[in-house]
Amino acid sequence: MEIVRTVAWMKQAARKARAEGGVVGLVPTMGALHEGHLSLVRRAQRDCRPVVVSIFVNPAQFGPKEDFANYPRAFKSDCEKLEASGVDFVFAPAAEEIYPAGFRTYVSVEGLSERLEGRSRPGHFRGVSTVVQKLLEIVQPHFAYLGRKDAQQARIVRQMAGDLNLDCEIIVCPIVREADGLAMSSRNVYLKNEERRGATVLRRALEKVREEIMAGTRDTHSLQAAMRRVLGSEPLAAPDYAEIVDAQTFEPVARVGRECYALLAVFFGATRLLDNMLMKPSDGGSEEFTFEL
Ligand code: PAJ
Repeated sequence: MEIVRTVAWMKQAARKARAEGGVVGLVPTMGALHEGHLSLVRRAQRDCRPVVVSIFVNPAQFGPKEDFANYPRAFKSDCEKLEASGVDFVFAPAAEEIYPAGFRTYVSVEGLSERLEGRSRPGHFRGVSTVVQKLLEIVQPHFAYLGRKDAQQARIVRQMAGDLNLDCEIIVCPIVREADGLAMSSRNVYLKNEERRGATVLRRALEKVREEIMAGTRDTHSLQAAMRRVLGSEPLAAPDYAEIVDAQTFEPVARVGRECYALLAVFFGATRLLDNMLMKPSDGGSEEFTFEL
């Protein structure tokens, strides 16, 4: 496994791999790797050789009052995990390598970036789309792998890749959860014991939506109220949003009919957790749904 620190070196190594007939896969991360990240790596290894994993805590996607300085960093153990997984390249540039003095160009995906996560974290998705565009430009992968855990982010990156005619297919992979249902996240380490126990309420709120839809409820007003009631049963949970939106536009819908997401962002103290469930109408447009948690 090769650890690459500079843009120039990464570009050269990736170009060489491509010229030699390699199918290049990129897994962008901010490190503090867990099984969710490693599931993306394994999926990439099914399709690609070489696989490049980027580890870069991207300052541009953190707000001034957010946790950039405290974001968990575990470079040595991350590299051990990636080496053991058989990854070919780790791209871990310094911030000045990605944003040198005088940097001025940003990518914004309009419309999709202002709602939900974007409303709570102004500028967040501008930082995400900019860094992902730069990583795609540097590595020029055939495939890039993102987690459905961050469903709005994945939708925005896919929109950007299409709009900018990038030669890269965006693959969105399932959510990996802890045994009790909590979605894995680098930020879970922030949770105190009691908060960690209470955090299972996110998954339970989504299961409630599934239950209600299976019992015939379709109007999103009632479904959102049901989610909020479950979240309200956990005293340590302070919901930021609990919404059902169209899976393509991320706009609110009145009824669950087309493919939709139930999306949650919930504070436990200063820690903000995300979760979601994808709901797809079964083939043939019947009233039945499949649910991906
Ligand atoms: P990070 O939070 O490190 O996540 C890297 C990738 O892992 C993302 O695509 C995310 O959706 C995925 N992921 C995280 N937890 C997961 C889980 N439990 N199951 C499946 N996939 C999971 O997301 C970012 O970094 C950054 O915004 C980034 C895209 C790297 C741009 O800076």
